[in-house]
Amino acid sequence: MERTLSIIKPDGVSKRLIGEVIKRFEKNDLRIVAMKMVHLSKKEAEGFYAVHSERPFFDSLTNFMSSGPIVVMVLEGKGAIKKNRELMGATNYKEAKPGTIRHEFASSIEQNIVHGSDSPETASTEIAYFLNALEIFDY
Ligand code: CMP
Repeated sequence: MERTLSIIKPDGVSKRLIGEVIKRFEKNDLRIVAMKMVHLSKKEAEGFYAVHSERPFFDSLTNFMSSGPIVVMVLEGKGAIKKNRELMGATNYKEAKPGTIRHEFASSIEQNIVHGSDSPETASTEIAYFLNALEIFDY
């Protein structure tokens, strides 16, 4: 079993896609073992995306990510990191395969509905950024 962090970004929440995204995870054997809605401050968004701090899109990305509430989840399942990334589709929605979340719902490379961890190391850092052990469940 593997765990990964998933975020429904402010555009996904405001477009009322929370249920749509969760349905896709559950239908594809990704168990939601933690979930909460949070509204990040600009500083908190900068902390989460610190690896991108030198990128030209960092300021815009962190403004966007702190612009409204997000839904943070821990997904658990066999190959959860890869499976989540397949369901999301490519970062650039123009390159995302038909049927993926980003292909169907994203409106720009930045406003791409969902975030998912890209490796086991990133997953554990990202999960710990949002959730403590008491907020993650076995069932
Ligand atoms: P995410 O998977 O959350 O990882 C970093 C985010 O930065 C990415 O999704 C996009 O929202 C955003 N991003 C990545 N590349 C670009 C880009 N070239 N221009 C603007 N935003 C980007």
